[in-house]
Amino acid sequence: MIELQGIYKVYDDGHEALKDIHLTFEDGDINVIIGPSGCGKTTTMKLINRLIQPSKGNILIDGKDTSTLSSVELRRSIGYVIQSVGLFPHMTIAQNVGVVPKLLKWEKHRIDERTDELLQLVGLEPDTYRHRFPSELSGGQQQRIGVIRALAAEPSIILVDEPFSALDPISREQLQDELINLQKTIKKTIVFVTHDMDEALKIADNIVLMKDGEVVQQGSPENILRHPANEFVESFIGEKRLRQANNMSTVQDVMRKNPVRASDKRGLAEAMKMMERKQVDTLLIVDKSDELEGYVTIYDVLGHFREEKKKLADIVKPFEHIVKLDTPLTEAIQLMNDYNLPYIPVTNDKEVLQGLVTRGSIVGHIGELYPPEEQGVL
Ligand SMILES: Nc1ncnc2c1ncn2[C@@H]1O[C@H](COP(=O)(O)OP(=O)(O)O)[C@@H](O)[C@H]1O
Ligand SMILES: [Mg+2]
Repeated sequence: MIELQGIYKVYDDGHEALKDIHLTFEDGDINVIIGPSGCGKTTTMKLINRLIQPSKGNILIDGKDTSTLSSVELRRSIGYVIQSVGLFPHMTIAQNVGVVPKLLKWEKHRIDERTDELLQLVGLEPDTYRHRFPSELSGGQQQRIGVIRALAAEPSIILVDEPFSALDPISREQLQDELINLQKTIKKTIVFVTHDMDEALKIADNIVLMKDGEVVQQGSPENILRHPANEFVESFIGEKRLRQANNMSTVQDVMRKNPVRASDKRGLAEAMKMMERKQVDTLLIVDKSDELEGYVTIYDVLGHFREEKKKLADIVKPFEHIVKLDTPLTEAIQLMNDYNLPYIPVTNDKEVLQGLVTRGSIVGHIGELYPPEEQGVL
């Protein structure tokens, strides 16, 4: 457990980076510190790590004031993964992973065994990777080495400072999953810094939101989503996510934009061609100002096909149910359930077609809200 008690940090130039910080990070949790650039996240990490000293206040690790710990004790108990990976380019992967154990004067065979064990833990075959240099690894692989290097001396605390921010979205998702899985096995106290709310909500047991050197709110992701402390937190979470969390999504959040539409002036052969081209069995029919008139199915078109003079305007059928942009999603779902509708059109106040809520778009929206728990590669 880590405790920060009344921490202030004033840099030499007089900049007050942290003001009266009180925080507790429990064992076994992934604690995420999040906030805009310059709010004091890295400063907090460096203080825990004793790379810099607080101007005022105490930091305790498992009840012991860190100012009383020797640098060897600190290195043993804390692993640090930094923003830029920071692997030593002229050292092999094995040498990189073994840096802290070597400093702690572990015997060579113990370091070798530990290195192989850790490489296997993140799915990198030791025989293949042990003797490679960092430049011979992909960005995601380098970041994995950064993580296992921090784990090497079996610290009880792991500090990670924006480790995945330079990675492409897919490697990033994968490493997040791996970290969650890894934590299930190792159960360390993890403090993880990010400025990405999606990342925080995905991995955190406990979120600390910071602004201008102060803690604005601390709590579980669920609690922060449901009870944001103020407007800053709300804006940081984002309006859309808040509405989703509170089940307040509107059809506008969910609808498919640009549904296939046809002008009521078109003939039936044209309509057939269009359905074929767009691979749909229904067309939404609009007038010249894009106001929604109704729909026409492939059966309607086939039924009147011999009547050459007929336009879509002559056979269009009105919708029984139409929703507005600000209709709550729950209401639209209710309608679709009650009347067994495959979809509902969305119009604005002037009856102009805006989109379509389909069963697929609702499933997609719910998927966004509750990402699947993917298994990592561990
Ligand atoms: N060595 C330093 N000297 C003076 N100011 C610093 C120093 N390091 C960081 N700062 C300032 O302290 C504030 C917090 O920095 P930092 O903790 O790195 O923010 P974050 O990691 O949240 O982006 C920033 O305004 C930064 O410019
Ligand atoms: Mg930083």
